[in-house]
Amino acid sequence: MIDILLISSSAERTPQIAARLEASGVAFRLRTLHGAAKQLRVHAAAIKSADLLIVDDAELTPRELGGVEEALSHTPHLHCMLVTPTPSTTLLMAAMRVGVRHVLSWPLDEHELADALAHVSSKKTAGVRRDGRVVSFTSCKGGSGTTLIAVNLAYTLAALRDKRVLLIDLNQQFADASLLVADKPPPATLADLCAQIDRLDVALFEACVMHVHANLDVLAGAGDPVKSGELRAAHLERLLTLVREQYDAVLIDVGQNINPLAIHALDHSDSICMVVRQNMLYLHAGRRMLDIFKELGYPASKLKLIVNQYDRHARVTLAMLEATFGVKVAHQLPRDEKQATEALDHGVPLMTSAKGSALTQSIALLGDLLWPRTTGPDKSVLARLFPGRVKAQRASNTASVPKAPPQLKAGH
Ligand SMILES: Nc1ncnc2c1ncn2[C@@H]1O[C@H](COP(=O)(O)OP(=O)(O)OP(=O)(O)O)[C@@H](O)[C@H]1O
Ligand SMILES: [Mg+2]
Repeated sequence: MIDILLISSSAERTPQIAARLEASGVAFRLRTLHGAAKQLRVHAAAIKSADLLIVDDAELTPRELGGVEEALSHTPHLHCMLVTPTPSTTLLMAAMRVGVRHVLSWPLDEHELADALAHVSSKKTAGVRRDGRVVSFTSCKGGSGTTLIAVNLAYTLAALRDKRVLLIDLNQQFADASLLVADKPPPATLADLCAQIDRLDVALFEACVMHVHANLDVLAGAGDPVKSGELRAAHLERLLTLVREQYDAVLIDVGQNINPLAIHALDHSDSICMVVRQNMLYLHAGRRMLDIFKELGYPASKLKLIVNQYDRHARVTLAMLEATFGVKVAHQLPRDEKQATEALDHGVPLMTSAKGSALTQSIALLGDLLWPRTTGPDKSVLARLFPGRVKAQRASNTASVPKAPPQLKAGH
């Protein structure tokens, strides 16, 4: 699938170009903006995440190609297509010089357009292989913060790490992940998609997901336990096969359920984050959940123990959690009731409502843990945004934990 950004100077031509693209048979995702070639610099951020930039400008002259040249030099994988009525030889030559391969005249010739799209699509398939790392988020007890973490981590990866991210809400009670990042209903749910699983392809998938950010899509949960009951592991298998190739990061909010559907998601995950809080009920239930994971044959390296709403004064210490679970705490997130509630009330990610908060920063660090960077950690976008705090948070995550033994009752 190719990401197309269409910048058109005509509100009339935009839908006509969209219709031509549709008729080409090539899978794509389209964003449209109003503007002319000379205004390209204004749209630099949107251009960055596109595979193909189509500039439709009836008044295009060679002089206005500076913006195109700049866009192509800043985004090496970008292809550019110019659409203009009867392009002159001078314009064609100038376009070639700045690296534009496709100059199409208006009205568009359907075969010419389809060939150009097929060319971009084949280059993308050959050049970029999404690694589609899948991470599931589970909780052994309700209200641990699994959804808040999964949703905000997905958003942070999309916004700060420039990854193509998908969040699947597999919660089988009353799925709510989409509410945390959008104030509108999703176009379809996981249940709607699975009801048509036989005709699942990129186009159907695209029609079902909610586009939350240029790099983030959310597949909303089934909505209620009755609809969730109709979901099958085989449905999920088809879905995961498709999305692994389309995204760099796939996050699954599994929630509390352990049933064939959830187990399928966990089986196919590269990592499983178990989110807990510091009280006896989590100690008890978490231990039970880890026993099940062990029976399912998951290696310890696949499990990541995440402590949410960390409280250094809590009776249940990190050392107790570690000793009881036999797993090291991989990451801890601070409590921030004010920001968590505000973000939830407005249906916006923490990155939007509380960008500099310790909770947002800690979620970004969790992203670095689960999707390690290839460059040195201190060169991260995050480190540049919050230089002092990143060091402090790393220090607190690696701080030694008290050595109190676990206090579990017999049989627990
Ligand atoms: N670090 C945090 N600081 C403060 N409040 C938090 C934090 N994490 C989560 N919360 C709050 O805790 C509540 C439960 O969070 P969330 O819905 O993410 O949990 P969950 O594990 O997905 O619950 P469920 O079992 O219902 O799916 C929400 O009100 C959320 O805003
Ligand atoms: Mg939840």
